[in-house]
Amino acid sequence: MKFRESVAHAVITSAGALLMMALGVQAQDRPIPRIVTWNCSGCHGIDGNTKLPYFPRLAGLKEAFAEKKIEMFRAAASPPVDEVFAWIVDPDKLKEPRNHPARVNMIGIAHAITPEESKAAAAWYAAQQPKPGRHGNPALIEMGSVLFANGLPSQHVPACKGCHGAQAQGVGAAPRIAGQNAEYIMSQLAKFSAGDRQHAPEMTLVTRELEGEQARAVAEYLQSR
Ligand code: HEC
Ligand code: HEC
Repeated sequence: MKFRESVAHAVITSAGALLMMALGVQAQDRPIPRIVTWNCSGCHGIDGNTKLPYFPRLAGLKEAFAEKKIEMFRAAASPPVDEVFAWIVDPDKLKEPRNHPARVNMIGIAHAITPEESKAAAAWYAAQQPKPGRHGNPALIEMGSVLFANGLPSQHVPACKGCHGAQAQGVGAAPRIAGQNAEYIMSQLAKFSAGDRQHAPEMTLVTRELEGEQARAVAEYLQSR
């Protein structure tokens, strides 16, 4: 290698290392799949610990669950163009938690990537270390913690921990929800409650009688874990 080339190489390599440090990525044996750096990381972060309010965290999410979800986004019909346009021109639509416009992004991406890319990204995120949760409103977190552990017997809401695990770490078909972004959780609870996620009848039952404030409380609690 000529001197100039090796200097250029060193500069590029250290720029890469600095970028990785800036993004909070730790050196790992596993190479980062290209689909993650080029695509998924823009919203979910390289290590899957995004703090963007709506975009879900993927760190530590089981590979099979992530793949199933991507498959379901792929199966979803794209929303009509005029509906998407209405979201852009009418910011009030952003306040409707059940149909967050960002969901359109994920549907488009699921259609655009190959099954191999989806598998590589799901495996990468499953191997990432979830970062600790974030603090929020203490009163809501306390209320949510009781709801998570005991459910709400008077409203036929079973304890979340019974399926998701005592640490909300995920057990069997019930995914990890610890540390998940509260806005994302609330939107999913609203979708389950409306019967939009038909592949999850147990969650439709769980959320049937859950009220807005209660959903917010359990979401704040989970985000703090
Ligand atoms: C433009 C932003 C954006 C990009 C880029 C993106 N996603 Fe997403 N992703 C989202 C949003 C928004 C959701 C939540 C959608 C919803 O409402 O259900 C999501 C949800 C998911 C979920 C479901 C998570 C859960 O907890 O249920 C998985 C898995 C996922 N994305 C994987 C990927 C992968 C793999 C890539 C890269 C190939 C990717 N995403 C790229 C925005 C994005
Ligand atoms: C009877 C078992 C059961 C109980 C009780 C339960 N869940 Fe779930 N939950 C599941 C299963 C199974 C899924 C996965 C659904 C799917 O495959 O789409 C799920 C999915 C979810 C998701 C979506 C995660 C994602 O990334 O897409 C959230 C959020 C959630 N549950 C929150 C809760 C909360 C909050 C409670 C308590 C109020 C609760 N769950 C109680 C079984 C349960």
